[in-house]
Parts: sequence; structure tokens; C-alpha cells
Amino acid sequence: MEIVHSASVLDEMLQPFRLAGKTIGFVPTMGALHEGHATLVKRCAAENDLCVVSIFVNPTQFNNIEDLKHYPRTPEKDYLLLESIGTDIIFTPSVEEVYPEPDKRVFDFGMLDKVMEGHFRPGHFNGVAQVVSKLFTVVRPDKAYFGEKDFQQLAIVREMVRQLQLPVVIVGVPTVREADGLAMSSRNQRLSEEQKKNASQIQRVLRASDAMRGGYTPGQVADYVVGEINNVPGLSVEYYEIVDGNTLQPISSWEKTAYAVGCIAVFCGDVRLIDNIRYN
Ligand code: PAF
Repeated sequence: MEIVHSASVLDEMLQPFRLAGKTIGFVPTMGALHEGHATLVKRCAAENDLCVVSIFVNPTQFNNIEDLKHYPRTPEKDYLLLESIGTDIIFTPSVEEVYPEPDKRVFDFGMLDKVMEGHFRPGHFNGVAQVVSKLFTVVRPDKAYFGEKDFQQLAIVREMVRQLQLPVVIVGVPTVREADGLAMSSRNQRLSEEQKKNASQIQRVLRASDAMRGGYTPGQVADYVVGEINNVPGLSVEYYEIVDGNTLQPISSWEKTAYAVGCIAVFCGDVRLIDNIRYN
């Protein structure tokens, strides 16, 4: 496994593989890796001739400087994990390498980034699109892997690829969970054992809400979810929206879509967690 900090060195390293017609798979990450990332990387390694993983905590997608400062960084542990699961190259550039000058690009994602995370974290998805498009330009992957936990991010990345006509297949990978249902996230490292137990109630309530679909409107189901989760000690819901999984716009009745998804953001102390459920 090689660890590369420079985009030009990475490009030189990848060129012979491209010329030989080998497929390049890519997993962009911000490090602090967990079993969820490992699932993406294993899939990437299994489906491509070469597996490239980036570790880069992207400042342009943080709209809260404290969040950026506290974002966990565990490079040595990450390298060991990545080596053990089939990573060929880790690309871990500096901020100056990725942004030699400020990235002034402003993407237009229509209504996709006006709701949920986009509403509560203004500028977040523009920053994600900036960094992912830059990373795609350097790595030029055939396939790139993203977790479905970040449901809105996945939709935004697909839309960015469509707009920029990038020749990359975006693969969405199901959320990996702890045994009690808590979605794996780098932010879980900041939770105490007690907080983790409380946070596991998020998925329990979402699953319970699935059974209500027969007799209640999406609005009533959303009210139930918010009420139940706010009753758990230490949890405070920022939003819960039941949306069409393609347009991400809220739905007022179940008949409006065959692809209803509930997306939630919850504060557990000062740690902000997101999760979602597909209503079948
Ligand atoms: O999901 C993440 O970890 C980040 O948003 C990503 C896609 C690596 C871009 O910085």
C-alpha cells in the first residue's frame, strides 16, 4: 500500500494502470474510519483492479468552525485498517494541495440542497461538491463509493456527476450499524457509552414508524418520530422529513411516491447525528 500526499505523484502512479485498461475504484473519506468505511473499501477493492482511498478533512464543507476543529483525526489507525482490507493507495493531501487558491465555484443543485442538511448547514453541499469534483479530477475513478447514511450527499454527488458529465459510476452502499441499530459514524467516537445507548433509539423509533404507514399521513408519522426521539434523555431532533427519495422534497401523502425516505438529524449532547429509513 502506498501513501501519497501529492496530486501529481498520484496521477503519475495511476497513469500506467489507466493505460493498461485497469479499473480504478475510489472511496473518498475524511478519515476517523470505522466499519462503515471498511464496507465501502472492501466493496471497492473487490469490484476494481485498483482501490484508492482519500483521507482529507475538507474545510469548505464545515459551516461550523468548532465542528471542523473537533472532527476526529486518527491517521495511523486509519492506515492500518486500510492496509488490512485491500487498499492499494491512500491519497491524503494537505489543504494547500487541494485548494492552492480558494475555490470560488458555486454549484446549483436546484431544490436538492435547499432542504434538510442543505437548509440547516448552508454551504455544506457546495463544499462537498467542490472537494469531490476536485478528487474525481485527480483520481479519475471508474467507480466511486458512498454510504447511504449520508442520503442527501449521495443524491447531490449523483447530480454533480450528471451536471459535470463525469465518466464515473456512483455506487451507494447500505448503512452499516452497530448491533443495537446505531448507524456507524466517525462522530460516534465523541459519544459516551450512555449517549450511544440513547442514540440507538433513533433507529428503533424510525423502524417502529414504518409500521404506522397504513393508518397515518407522513406528517403524523413525522410528528410521532420527533416526539418519541425528543423523549429520549439527551436527544434533541433538529429535523425529521419524509421525502421523495429522488427529488428529496417532502411528501404530504404516501401515494405521492413509491420511494419514500425519512431523513433525520438529531443532537446527542453537542454531537450531531444523521440517519434515515426507507419506507417500503
Ligand atoms: O462523507 C464524507 O466523509 C465527506 O463528505 C466526503 C464525501 C469524503 C467529502 O469530503
